[in-house]
Amino acid sequence: MSDQDKDRADAAKLPEGDVVAVLLTQHATVRDMLDQVKNSTGDQRQQAFTALAGLLTAHETAERSVIRPVTEQTAGAAVVEARNAEEAHADEVVAKLKTLDVTSGDFETQFAEFTQAVSDHAEAEEHEEFPTIIANRSEEERHALGHQFLTAFAEAGGTR
Ligand SMILES: [Fe+2]
Ligand SMILES: [Fe+2]
Repeated sequence: MSDQDKDRADAAKLPEGDVVAVLLTQHATVRDMLDQVKNSTGDQRQQAFTALAGLLTAHETAERSVIRPVTEQTAGAAVVEARNAEEAHADEVVAKLKTLDVTSGDFETQFAEFTQAVSDHAEAEEHEEFPTIIANRSEEERHALGHQFLTAFAEAGGTR
């Protein structure tokens, strides 16, 4: 099973609108879009990368504002610091990738590294943060957090 299939299968086990289901579904979309960038060329690759960058920016912005205040309590400050640092680094890499020609070897190399970093970051959230939200927040609280997350995501320019 691919990582995105596993994310979707895990999301399907949770109530609709549960914040962890929303997060897992977005992780699956991010993984799909990483594959699209890798497997496309020219203008299509440029469009796919622009869409991926927009999705990631909105996803991480909403995580920082809505999820981290929760996981600071449920997973601890060290976990929050590690995830925020990974996201800050990813922001820098996206800014760098945006300056490169998507058809260049430089882009290919740096995008491959970026893909691994994004995937590792998502895995860390899925293992160190999400289970603690499920264990320490009620279904009602998680539903409300899902709504807050999607509102923050939309405010940050997210469209899916
Ligand atoms: Fe994140
Ligand atoms: Fe995430």
